[in-house]
Amino acid sequence: MAKKPRLPAGHAPLDQILFAQGFGARRTCEGLILHGLVQVNGEVVDDPDAVFPEDGLVLSVEGQPWVTHVRALVMLHKPPGYECSLKPGAWPGVHNLLPAPLRQRGLQPVGRLDQDTTGLLLMTDDGPLLHKLTSPKHHVPKVYEVTCKHPVTQAMCDKLLKGVVLDDDPEPVAAAAAERVVAEGDETGAETLHLRLTLLQGKYHQVKRMVAAVGNRVEGLHRSQIGRLTLPADLAPGQWRWIDDPAVVLP
Ligand code: URA
Repeated sequence: MAKKPRLPAGHAPLDQILFAQGFGARRTCEGLILHGLVQVNGEVVDDPDAVFPEDGLVLSVEGQPWVTHVRALVMLHKPPGYECSLKPGAWPGVHNLLPAPLRQRGLQPVGRLDQDTTGLLLMTDDGPLLHKLTSPKHHVPKVYEVTCKHPVTQAMCDKLLKGVVLDDDPEPVAAAAAERVVAEGDETGAETLHLRLTLLQGKYHQVKRMVAAVGNRVEGLHRSQIGRLTLPADLAPGQWRWIDDPAVVLP
């Protein structure tokens, strides 16, 4: 049998590219191309074996614009009422907020937010990056805007900074930063319910348990930042966006 010619590095046949991007089984991808439903850089390509670069390719698949990413990293503005679990129970999963090709690729949430927590959630299919972003060794800070039931006192912030003991670990866990957020025009700020907490770990219900450990209670929780990445003001709840370079997240 004739040997297949070696492809340039980072290149692949179009049907393989579509398959890797999550557009369905190999036969489905081949069929989409043969039926003229795939454009590359604005031109229909009906040859499944046509070779293209795998990353950054500008496609349109059945009219859906798509730029290929060999490894997917996306940010999602998580609304309330969604679970981060891969097998959600009582609530729909955050995967439902992603387009079909990304659902097909099985992106994993980078750490979890509770069903009632809102804000910045990263999702990826890049295993080593997932490890880097979640491993406590890498100290990626996460910033939470916490609405508390009772006024936030400086004494509470001091205790959070010093470290509190949670029920599953005798080692105290400390916040990297804890500050009372006082609204503009609020003279004393004595009654503020808003706490901004920065954590380096990602323990189960960590914010809720730490706040409970200092005698307060979380009434609302929103993650505003992970590493260097702040949730963009123009990303509405339920919307997602590609992150082209993980360096915008890592400190
Ligand atoms: N800590 C919590 O308690 N809940 C979250 O969703 C995230 C951090």
